[in-house]
Amino acid sequence: MQNQNMQTEITLRDGNRIPQLGAGTYMIENHQLCKATVRDALDLGYRHIDTAQIYKNERAVGEALAESGVDRKDVFLTTKVWVTNFTYEKASRSIDASLARLGTDYIDLVLVHRPYGNYWPAWQAMEDAMEAGKIRSIGLSNFSMDQTRQILDRGRIYPVVNQIECHPFYQQRELRRELESLGIRVEAWYPLGHGSRRMMQEPVLAELSRIYGKSVAQIILRWHIQEDCIVLPKSTRRSHLAENFRIFDFQLNPEDMERIRALDRNETLFKCPLWLDEWKARLFTRA
Ligand SMILES: NC(=O)c1ccc[n+]([C@@H]2O[C@H](COP(=O)([O-])OP(=O)(O)OC[C@H]3O[C@@H](n4cnc5c(N)ncnc54)[C@H](OP(=O)(O)O)[C@@H]3O)[C@@H](O)[C@H]2O)c1
Repeated sequence: MQNQNMQTEITLRDGNRIPQLGAGTYMIENHQLCKATVRDALDLGYRHIDTAQIYKNERAVGEALAESGVDRKDVFLTTKVWVTNFTYEKASRSIDASLARLGTDYIDLVLVHRPYGNYWPAWQAMEDAMEAGKIRSIGLSNFSMDQTRQILDRGRIYPVVNQIECHPFYQQRELRRELESLGIRVEAWYPLGHGSRRMMQEPVLAELSRIYGKSVAQIILRWHIQEDCIVLPKSTRRSHLAENFRIFDFQLNPEDMERIRALDRNETLFKCPLWLDEWKARLFTRA
């Protein structure tokens, strides 16, 4: 059992290092709230912030970082190119706009947010931006194995992560295994099931919470860490941010890891049906 709460880092396939725990910022559009949340996260020791062009909060993330006193080089920043920017020119311009909003001259990791329509020109723009020194690593989000392989076949630069929905009710073990076999790290979104009450009250998780003297959220996040995922919980409450950070001072034993694996129901908690999401995206991306 570790005594100190030491944050762990992972080395990506391109040699860059990423803190395994990051703070998510989805659905924090309010500028002041997002700034306060990111300030709290940095103050509590988080050194990895996950944002996206579509979250409309990159400026708040950048301001929070600038005002925090934490060195830019000590923070890992991720953003994602949204589907309306999938032509080469729009993707390139959108990366420059993200850099300006974030107030930085490089972004640690940029992802293709969703594999809708023709995302290939956006990938090429990301490769070029990486070669121009604007981005340190590039990756994917919500890509199936087939879509991932297309990028591997055609791309010049290797994607280092695929950010996918992953939590105890939707573990995506086959996709994760295949990605890992290719050296592509998994980042888990909705790691706490988007705060699902059913998950927070799940009896096995509640029992483990009692046994380990940790909250259900901490048990779930620790499970993700031991599954070798990069994990991105979101909270706008300082107390939850602090709680979610205290997951490096205990370990789940192998039997308890298995008990959580057995909770898999192949149940996505993402409410917008993917066909509707894609249909909306196609409307946006029509020339
Ligand atoms: N690539 C993609 O397509 C994609 C999609 C979705 C999300 N993401 C990324 O993944 C991140 C995480 O996803 P998410 O924000 O939707 O879901 P999440 O982190 O699974 O859950 C967030 C919810 O859990 C609650 N929560 C957080 N810590 C808690 C704790 N210790 N105890 C009890 N409740 C707690 C939060 O409420 P409070 O604020 O009240 O604490 C919030 O309602 C996002 O912020 C985003 O960065 C990426």
